[in-house]
Parts: sequence; C-alpha cells; structure tokens
Amino acid sequence: MTISKKVEKWVREWSDLCQPDAIHWCDGSDEENQKLLDMMVDSGMAVKLNEAKRPGSYYFQSDPSDVARVENRTFICSAKQEDAGPTNNWMAPAEMKKLLTEEYRGCMKGRIMYVIPFSMGPLGSKIAHIGIQITDSPYVVVNMRIMTRMGKAVLDILGDGDFVPCIHSVGAPLAPGQKDVKWPCAPIEKKYISHFPDTNETWSFGSGYGGNALLGKKCFALRIASNMAHREGWLAEHMLIMGITNPEGVKKYVAAAFPSACGKTNLAMLIPNIPGWKVETVGDDIAWMKFGDDGRLYAINPEAGFFGVAPFTSMETNPNAMLSCKANSIFTNTGLTPDGDIWWEGIGSDIPEGTITWTNEVYNKENGKPAAHPNARFTAPANQCPVIDKDWENPKGVPISAFLFGGRRPGTVPLVYQAFDWNHGVFMGSIVGSEVTAAAIGLKAGVRRDPFAMLPFCGYHMGDYFGHWVTIGKNAPDKKKLPMIFNVNWFRKGPDGKFLWPGYGDNIRILKWIFERAEGTTGAVETPIGLLPEKGSIDISGLSGVADKMDDILKVDKAEWLDECELIAEHQRLFGERLPKEMLEQFESLKKRLNG
Ligand code: OXD
Ligand code: MN
Repeated sequence: MTISKKVEKWVREWSDLCQPDAIHWCDGSDEENQKLLDMMVDSGMAVKLNEAKRPGSYYFQSDPSDVARVENRTFICSAKQEDAGPTNNWMAPAEMKKLLTEEYRGCMKGRIMYVIPFSMGPLGSKIAHIGIQITDSPYVVVNMRIMTRMGKAVLDILGDGDFVPCIHSVGAPLAPGQKDVKWPCAPIEKKYISHFPDTNETWSFGSGYGGNALLGKKCFALRIASNMAHREGWLAEHMLIMGITNPEGVKKYVAAAFPSACGKTNLAMLIPNIPGWKVETVGDDIAWMKFGDDGRLYAINPEAGFFGVAPFTSMETNPNAMLSCKANSIFTNTGLTPDGDIWWEGIGSDIPEGTITWTNEVYNKENGKPAAHPNARFTAPANQCPVIDKDWENPKGVPISAFLFGGRRPGTVPLVYQAFDWNHGVFMGSIVGSEVTAAAIGLKAGVRRDPFAMLPFCGYHMGDYFGHWVTIGKNAPDKKKLPMIFNVNWFRKGPDGKFLWPGYGDNIRILKWIFERAEGTTGAVETPIGLLPEKGSIDISGLSGVADKMDDILKVDKAEWLDECELIAEHQRLFGERLPKEMLEQFESLKKRLNG
C-alpha cells in the first residue's frame, strides 16, 4: 500500500485528536471484510443470515433514534452565510470546527479507527474523485466496501495527490471495560453532518445511519461535489442513469431526478411492458457529468452499490432490485425471520410466524407496529443487478440524451411534457415538487418544492445552482448536443383518488416517447407549459382501461396552472436577489402563455 506523507500526517493528526485504541488501514480485501463481519457477529452487532437463503449477507438493527438522514442537523459551513442560501442550515466554518474538534477529542477511545481510501467513480476515470474516510464504525467500512471502490488500489492511484477528507465518528467512546451497545451513536442534539465547501471537507459526528455516515454518498458525491462542479463547470446531480434500447437496437441514455422515495431505484431497473424494448441500469441515485471531446454530456455513476429502501420492494415492483440483494448484501432495520432471512412490508409474501422486528421484538400483528422500519435499507453491489449496463464502469461515462424531472403530483401536472429549450428545462427542474400529506411527516399539506430533487443535497445557494445550470447550457461546446429536458408525473390521480396511469413497467411507454423525441421521430403539440405528446403518440397498445383516461392523464388545465403560478411565485421569492433573471423570465413567459 502506497501511503503518502500527506495522508500519513493527516491520519496521525486525527488519531491524536480522536485517541482510538488502534488504527486499521483498509485494504479492501475479502479477508479483511470477512474479519470485520465475523467480529461484528461475535460482538452481537450483526446477525449472519442463513447461508442457503441469503449467502454472504448480514443483518443489522440500528438504534431507534438513528434511522434516517437528519436534515435539521446537516450544515453547510461556507465562509459567508449567504452562500449557503435559504435552503441549508449554516454555521461559520471556524465555529463548527471548534465545536466539533471538542466533540472529536477522545471520541474513539475504546474503538478502532478505520482509514478507508475510496474512489467515487471508476478507478482512474477523469470524472472520478478520491476521498479518504476516517471512521470508528466497522458497519460503515463494510457498507463503504459495497457502495464505493475502496482499499489499497485507491491509495496506489492517489500517490501524493489531493483527496476529499471525510471524518466520521459515531460519537460514543468506551470507558475501559465498558461493554459496547449494538448500534453506538450520539443523541440527536449531538449529531452534526457538516460540510466545508471552501476546503472540500466533510465532518460527520454522532450517527451511524447510511446517508449520515457513508460519507462518499450524499456528503461528498452531492453536497461537496455540487460545489466542486459549480467551481469547475460540471454537474453533480441526484439522478439515476439508465440505458434504453429500442427494438432496432438503438440505445440512448437518460438521467432522471426525483425527490427521495419517488421510485428512482424502480425506474432505473424497470422491466419494460412493451416487447422489444430494453432498460439497463448505470446508477440509481447520483450522476456526475462532464462534456466529452465530442461535445456531448457524459455521465458516470460515482457509486458502486445500491443503498435502497427495502419496504415495498418486491418481485412485483422491482425484481431486479430483489435479485441484486440476493447475496453479499447488508440489511438494516428490516425484519428477521426465524429461519435467518429478512422480511419487510410489501415484500410479496406473508410474514413468517416469529419474525423479529427492527426494534428486536417478536412481530405482533395486533400492536400495529411494522416489522421493518419504513426507511429500512438494503446495501447491494451494483454488479449483482441482472440489468446492469455493460458500460456502467466505463471511465468515459455514458452520453446523456435526455434529462427527466418529476415528483408526486396527484393533480395539475400531466404525465409527460418537454421543455421548449434548455432554460425552460432548467425552470422545470427548479419547480420540481411533491405533494405531502400533513399526517405523514408533520409538514403543512401541499406541494413541497424540491428543486432538481436537490433540496437536501445542494451544497451552496440554490439560486446560484439554478444559475449554474443556465451557464452549463450557455457554455455548452455544442448547444445542439445538449440533452433534451422533460418532466414526468406518474402519480396523477382521478376523481376517485386512484392513480390514472399504471406506472412501473408501463413507464417504458413514456420513455419510448422521450426516446423518439430525441430521435426526432415523433410529434408534439405546443401548450402553455411545454410540448405534450401528440394524440396517439404514446404507445398504449395492449394496455386495457387506459385509452379513455389519456385525455385526463395529459390534461393541461389553465385554471389549475394559474393556481400553480401563485405557488411558483412564492417559491421563487425564497431565492431573492440570487434567483437568475432567466428563471424570472421563464416564469413571466409561462404566465403570458397561460393568459394568452
Ligand atoms: C437516499 C435519499 O437515500 O435520497 O438516496 O434519501
Ligand atoms: Mn437519493
């Protein structure tokens, strides 16, 4: 292993502060992984699943307080508060570093400090970047091994080059002789997920949960990388990447942004319901994109695994995800069956008698408590996905033909529409939203705007982020080669409260229209909000009960859109002076078209 003086010094400084009992440099080998897993089984932190049913797989239950990302404890520590913008929490970098330095002091006592060199993106790709995470959680190490390319090879490539420093501790030091708990973490008010965009660093304290602790994912690949991309003229986005091949064998790639829990993983692995069409997966959560020498925008998936929501994933809803986590996977906060397998709500089979819930109780139908936490997760290697794209690790990336935006909108928004041009598409991305029900998350019912699905992940002022997208279009080496932009909404409901569109495998019908728009082989009609499919141009062959709903599915109701404009105005006001003039112009044009 090549350890540069710079890396060695940095690790020494952190170990002096955190005071672990030992330091372990992760080489990423199978032996190392197995040793860590065995150690966690021995200590009671993990359960080895039944080898015959779920080979090489392990089960974890988190502390009940540490089950999800903590947006109210997530901070963007830019030098100036106004640069973090109205959608992020902010603290001055010096103040956050002072506070956290005291939290980190001695925080790894009684534990091992693991040093994880990792690459986001294929090793050696020009679009990839290297980080090094320090952590005191062996759970994090085994997850990072699935989610990133990690270990010795990364240090060998890094040499004495620059890396993104990622500091993580669960924030639960052990006194001499103190017995560890199953899932160590700190109380909520001591959790800090902090980012220093001016120095490309991320410091996380107090949580062991994926999005807070696997720092390559949301912290580096989105919050820090969005800053790098802004400075350097590329894109780091909360987008899946998929390849679509038509019956003639022509292939196109699209990237799609949807707010969390809108089915990105399902779409990325869709099994088409029309014969002859094929979908292949490049990534299900994050895309990094740069212009190639041919003037097209190329995307890589910086991750190497899927960290998917388990509940309601089934052989019906997403067989490819189920097959991806058939083996060599990690399950967190699902149920555990008596025969040593996992179970969750919506898995497609009845719950076996005696299943243990994520809170370690025997499941009892009477008390109404689910077996799996609604945010229970599987961590699965991407190369186990039956439809993984042959170019998913191509260091050049894959050329993107279209961007899709979308959210859960029971009303107003039609099934699909296309932007008139790039800036109109940026405007469409800037107003992405999902309906929230007050009961579900304790928020005001209505549309929660989640621009570009980046609300929790944009590491700088969101107004400047819209401006960055405008600039990407303006500076594109060849504007004709920019991806076309679309908005989709499979969640529109009829007056009976039922979804109008069947979704899942039938979404290929929408992808087919988008594909054909990119090919220039299908028509569109101009409406005030954008270009909609010409009558009959969405292929609904073989679908029963949909033909007479198509008008409602594609309806653009002026009165509803004028109401929507009031909400858009409110949303735009949030960004004040930093809202690019192009976004205001787009809004004015939309209103004019609606009133015209
Ligand atoms: C995720 C998320 O876990 O978006 O991917 O929350
Ligand atoms: Mn996500």
